[in-house]
Amino acid sequence: MIPLKKNIFLNEQETRAELARFIVSSNKLSMGEECNKFEEAFASFEGANEAVLFNSGGSANLAMLQALKNTGSIKDGDKIGFSALTWSTNVMPIIQLKLQPVPIDCEPATLNVMSNLLQERLQDTDIRVFFITNALGFSGDLDIIQRICLERDIILLEDNCEALGTEMHSGKTGSFGEMSSYSFFVAHHMSTIEGGMVCTNNGEFAEMLRIVRANGWDRNLSREQQARWRSKSNIDSDFYAKYTFHDLGYNFRPTEITGFLGRYQLPFLRDSITAREKNYIKLESVVKSNPELITLNRSHISLLSNFAFPVLCEQPAIREKYLNKFKSAEIEIRPMIAGNIQKQPFYKKYVSKLYDLPGVDKIHECGFYCGNYPELTENDISAISECLRKG
Ligand SMILES: Cc1ncc(COP(=O)(O)O)c(C=O)c1O
Repeated sequence: MIPLKKNIFLNEQETRAELARFIVSSNKLSMGEECNKFEEAFASFEGANEAVLFNSGGSANLAMLQALKNTGSIKDGDKIGFSALTWSTNVMPIIQLKLQPVPIDCEPATLNVMSNLLQERLQDTDIRVFFITNALGFSGDLDIIQRICLERDIILLEDNCEALGTEMHSGKTGSFGEMSSYSFFVAHHMSTIEGGMVCTNNGEFAEMLRIVRANGWDRNLSREQQARWRSKSNIDSDFYAKYTFHDLGYNFRPTEITGFLGRYQLPFLRDSITAREKNYIKLESVVKSNPELITLNRSHISLLSNFAFPVLCEQPAIREKYLNKFKSAEIEIRPMIAGNIQKQPFYKKYVSKLYDLPGVDKIHECGFYCGNYPELTENDISAISECLRKG
């Protein structure tokens, strides 16, 4: 059996032992200094001004859109473009916050929205925000997409939950959006069991994200920021300030365990990304020699960071054959994330306007993935390679 993941943590034994020591010796386990330290270290790893830690990637996504609403950057009914190949909790917040979802098709060869597909959609639909997903470690031409958004006054958000560490020739994924989200759920690049992050260079959004993350109050802001909010809300008493809720929020706080695990493993992340890329290149060489499979285009990517090996077949009938091969070899596989999101039950229930999405249909019908992680052995790579060969 080759599972989707083998370990929960990077440097598993050492991290588990240090986690146990941390829990035994800590007086505080609710959000505090460990979370702050991880935020600082992660912001520096990503080259962002600020990072705000959340209890999951899905809540980070909801918080980004709520922050846009709270700051008056968007309003009810605004159209929000999103990558049609994505995860449920990338799209659900759009519906939950009374915004209109507009799917943008993805290119099968890169699994992502390319600028020409965004341009096509913009010919007949205006969008206020483009919430792009960097799917399965890959990315679109984000530099061009960013330029289009700037020219059209569209706010670009990145869901980078599946591409932490990917570098393009034009910059790191996660560095193009006004805000970018990350997930530290098990089987992602780095796991804090559950956990998520938002990175941003925009101070106003970072401040609002901290309000949204914790009940709508100001406790996790600087003194100066608190003074500003209290004056705006006409609160001149420290007593009432403790329970003053300035704007709409949730309880999306992480714990000190999240912060500790993130900070502790961050120094190991780079090596694990390199190991995953090496695995990818080995498996890709087998795909290249098989005309039944499509070799994905990563020419715009200088460091590919994925936790999965995506396989795209030429035809749906051919995929059936490969699904059976993987099943017989006991290699765990998954569909290409949520596939064509318009076919998902929740989407059909809440959204009536549908679009043609031929690229995502192809990915939905012809694709699947297996795990890619540093602990894959030479035997594992050989077993996966065997399944990827023609015949
Ligand atoms: C693209 C994408 N966005 C968001 C999420 C949600 O992250 P989480 O599971 O941490 O809530 C995932 C989860 O796998 C994802 O793949």
